Order: sequence, then structure tokens, then C-alpha cells
Amino acid sequence: MRGLPYYLISEMKLPHKIRKLAEPLTYRRAWRRVRRSFFPLPLAPLRAKIDQERLREIQQRYAGSPEGFSKYADVDRYLRVNRERVQDLKLHRSTPKRVLDLGCGGGFFLFILKKLGHSVVGLDVGHIDLYTELVELFDVPRVLWKISAFEPLPDLGQKFDWITAFSVGFTLYQPSKRSWGSAEWDFLLRDLQRHLTPGGKIFFELNPPDYHASELRDFFVSRGATVERERIFFETGLRFSSVSYAPFSSKESELTSVAEADNHKLHG
Ligand SMILES: C[S@@+](CC[C@H](N)C(=O)[O-])C[C@H]1O[C@@H](n2cnc3c(N)ncnc32)[C@H](O)[C@@H]1O
Repeated sequence: MRGLPYYLISEMKLPHKIRKLAEPLTYRRAWRRVRRSFFPLPLAPLRAKIDQERLREIQQRYAGSPEGFSKYADVDRYLRVNRERVQDLKLHRSTPKRVLDLGCGGGFFLFILKKLGHSVVGLDVGHIDLYTELVELFDVPRVLWKISAFEPLPDLGQKFDWITAFSVGFTLYQPSKRSWGSAEWDFLLRDLQRHLTPGGKIFFELNPPDYHASELRDFFVSRGATVERERIFFETGLRFSSVSYAPFSSKESELTSVAEADNHKLHG
């Protein structure tokens, strides 16, 4: 469109803008913004709970670091990001819940929840020192564990009302780096079910390459989720049928046995 006058370009873009306005996604996002302003969650009382001297010391050490993760030392920015997550899940207006956050990183989300009176546990590989320093600064309890395809989570000693995961790539530490398909996700969901209280909720906000929305959308919907791009919400729990999702690898027998167990439960 180079060389065209601005008003012409603008007019050519108009149908696109109108189309965007008509998209349900645009309304859902706008509605979330409105809801956040109706039910604010001030950050000042949360900031006041952070040891500022220790935080400054951490920030000085990571200032100018070329590592991508060092951006998380900007605590104010990530508190704001996570405030929106808390608000959108309405956890600032809820009775105390037990929350497990998978791939909790620096623990921003759980720090906010803890200060709101929820009981929290983070789970993470724990390979990155900055995240360790932040969860310690925030005093967020964390279980060190690597989530791997077709491997159950450890005994966490309690059940949770919510299980969440934000911006996580479960394939990050997997040697093959291959994205998870339905079989891997099915295994994880069945395993997470063991850690959920009755009526417990699961919310994922996934990143590519972990999540290819177009390919996995139907699968997550079949398990009871509402899916809005990368946002996958099992608001009324998980739903399982006896469908077996064929894995890519030799773990086939494990999944078949999961499906067989289902069938056994269903048919006796
Ligand atoms: C981009 S950070 C996001 C952290 C946090 N959820 C947030 O949104 O601020 C991704 C986190 O997921 C963790 N992670 C990645 N793969 C994992 C796995 N297989 N098991 C457990 N944690 C994992 C990483 O260690 C890292 O802390």
C-alpha cells in the first residue's frame, strides 16, 4: 500500500476494522477490560508487602542482563500482568481457594493470590535463579518438578480448587521439543483430575509452540473447556469419555490402558 495517500489506506482498512468490531473475541476482551475497571485490584497494598531493599538488590544484579528471563526482574510490570489474570478469573472476589500454578516462574500470580488470602502452591522446574530469588522474595511455596509427557505429577499432599498455567511451554525441557498432541494433553488432564477437588477448575493460557489452537481446540472442547485462542478454561471441571487419543510414540500401551480403565468403569 506504499505510495497511496493516507485517507485511501485508511478507507481500505475500514472493512477490516469493522470486521474486527463484529468479532466476538473483540467484545470478550473489551468486556474483560470493563469488568477490571468495575472491580479494581489496587497494587499499592501488594507492593507494600515486598521487601524493597532485597528487590532493588535483585534488580541491580539482573539490570542489563541479555537473558530473556531477566525481564521478570521488572516486578511492577509483571505484577500488573498478573493482576489482570487474577481479576479475569475473579479470584480477587472469591472465598479462599487452594490454587496450584504449573510453571509458576517467579510466582507473581501466586504472590497476589496469597496476599488475597488464598492458599497457593507453585510447581516449576526451577532451573532459573531469578525465578528462585523471586519466589523466595514473595514467600511463595514451590514444588520443584519437571512436567513431562505421559508422566504423572508427584503427590502434592492436598487437592486444589484451581489449577492454572500461564505462558508455559511444557516442551521446553523435553529433548525432542516436539509439541504436545491430544494424547499428551489427555494424559496431563486425567492426571490433573486426581489433584482437583470436586468442581475444581483448570485454566491454561498457553504459548506456542506448546499449543496450536487450531489443532487442539476440538480436543479441549471435548474435555469440557471453553477455548478463546490461547485461553482454555475448564470452568465446570473436566469431562472424560472413553475415547483414546493415539500417541505419537511408544507410550501407546499406557494410553490404551487409561481408556480401558475408563471402559471398565463405564461397563463394569
Ligand atoms: C515463561 S515462564 C512463565 C512463568 C509464569 N507462569 C508467568 O506467567 O509469569 C515459563 C515457566 O514454565 C516453567 N516450565 C517450563 N516447562 C516446564 C515443565 N516441563 N515443567 C515444569 N515447569 C516448566 C519454566 O521453568 C518457567 O518458569
